[in-house]
Amino acid sequence: MSEAVIQLVDVVKSFKSQVVLDRVNLEISTGRTTVIAGQSGQGKSVTLKLILGLMRPDSGQVLVNGRDISRMRKRQLDEVRTNFGVLFQGGALFDSLSVFENVALPLRERTKSSRQEIRERVMETLALFDLTGHEDKYPAQISGGMKKRVGLARALQLEPRIMLFDEPTTGLDPTKSMEIYQLFHRAQERFGYTSIIVSHDIPKIFNLADQVVILQDGRMHRFNNPEDIHWSDDPGIMDFVRLTMGQIYQSEQMER
Ligand SMILES: Nc1ncnc2c1ncn2[C@@H]1O[C@H](COP(=O)(O)OP(=O)(O)OP(=O)(O)O)[C@@H](O)[C@H]1O
Ligand SMILES: [Mg+2]
Repeated sequence: MSEAVIQLVDVVKSFKSQVVLDRVNLEISTGRTTVIAGQSGQGKSVTLKLILGLMRPDSGQVLVNGRDISRMRKRQLDEVRTNFGVLFQGGALFDSLSVFENVALPLRERTKSSRQEIRERVMETLALFDLTGHEDKYPAQISGGMKKRVGLARALQLEPRIMLFDEPTTGLDPTKSMEIYQLFHRAQERFGYTSIIVSHDIPKIFNLADQVVILQDGRMHRFNNPEDIHWSDDPGIMDFVRLTMGQIYQSEQMER
């Protein structure tokens, strides 16, 4: 087992009287893929925000590389955050910037790379994501799947050690979302980052995941194997399985 890059230890997070996370524990190993699933409103996005230090737990610890970020001041936190790349739901591209400019942006803003270096890096990443020839288009001129790929290309420019994806395939049809997950797999092999994916469609991504965590009623249920989810006797998990996992066996044919 490789080392834990992120650990939640007895984390409690509530909003007024609503307990969203109730003493949860989670361990995420370096270079592995963790999928966080669960029904709407169970605390998936809250978990990502705790990991990014955008929210603090009421009690418990959030460790990144062994250091508790829940007690850090802003400057230390900013430094820890340089480890993270984030791909939010919409991809969050800038509409007024071309594909090239969107991907180049982090390099321009956060590094001292020359124009030539930036051009080479960006074109290389665009090629990796099958976007060559589209660099001068604007977000409104490309498809939904291409936007996700541009978003991922941009998020990877600063070579984050940890990538967080919040519902990365929302709005894509099943074939396209499968392509995106395959792309994630290729990108992870190429860049070697630790990956945390929040997703509703666990059947489709099981083959990518080293562990699946299902959030239900404030608790985290950890599974190493999709079969185990089917055998769970927790009523909430059983509901979740009924609602979302009908196609799980189909997904096992997914190519890695
Ligand atoms: N800043 C906040 N203030 C108050 N309540 C909040 C806040 N952020 C989240 N919540 C509540 O915490 C619960 C979990 O929210 P969260 O966004 O993590 O859900 P989720 O699992 O990501 O759901 P979805 O699948 O719909 O995105 C919800 O009931 C939400 O209303
Ligand atoms: Mg959410």
